[in-house]
Amino acid sequence: MDPWVVAITGASGSVYAKRLIEALRLHGETICLVVSRPGRRVAKDELGWVLTGDIRDDRERIRSYCGYSADEEGLSCYDWQDIGCCLASGSFRTRGMFVIPCTMATLAGIAVGSSRNLIERAADVTIKERRRLILVPRETPLSPIHLRNMLTLAEMGVDIVPPMPAFYFGPGSLDDLVDFFVKRVLAVAGLS
Ligand SMILES: Cc1cc2nc3c(=O)[nH]c(=O)nc-3n(C[C@H](O)[C@H](O)[C@H](O)COP(=O)(O)O)c2cc1C
Repeated sequence: MDPWVVAITGASGSVYAKRLIEALRLHGETICLVVSRPGRRVAKDELGWVLTGDIRDDRERIRSYCGYSADEEGLSCYDWQDIGCCLASGSFRTRGMFVIPCTMATLAGIAVGSSRNLIERAADVTIKERRRLILVPRETPLSPIHLRNMLTLAEMGVDIVPPMPAFYFGPGSLDDLVDFFVKRVLAVAGLS
């Protein structure tokens, strides 16, 4: 089956990405993961992930943090500046892409098609190939710049799914809130 692209950028909320990867793994989905440099920094603060920036080291670290055993297939990791890798090409088929969490910087880059790194390029490819692109933007308050960029992308058919917690289901823990939101993200992607 074609893989999903998952990108983690340097916004608060890396826990949503980790939970999404775990859920996709449970679904038997294949994942191509890219983490931006600021994404590594925030994942260290929020998840305790220690990543070096050398993808040869980080591959196994990320796979282990996400619960994959050494010989398990289904999760491959790419250097966020490797704009020559498969994810940068439209001929590499994917089911779609999640940017979770998505910074306002990456959101802006995708909105104008700047493709300055692999995450922006893969998102650009996802849009041009008319595949599903799901962004989980996180910032507060939102400026007119952020809102305009979101509207630009929404009008192109990009799914804008901000991580807004709901309380009507009586969450008892942080995990409940994270799980509830990740289920919404999966539903947007057409995964139950
Ligand atoms: C601890 C921390 C939290 C941050 N949270 C956010 C955030 O929630 N939203 C956002 O747009 N930027 C946030 N930033 C700033 C981005 O990381 C910064 O703009 C970065 O250049 C984005 O790069 P990227 O989109 O390539 O990951 C945060 C930075 C740090 C260090």
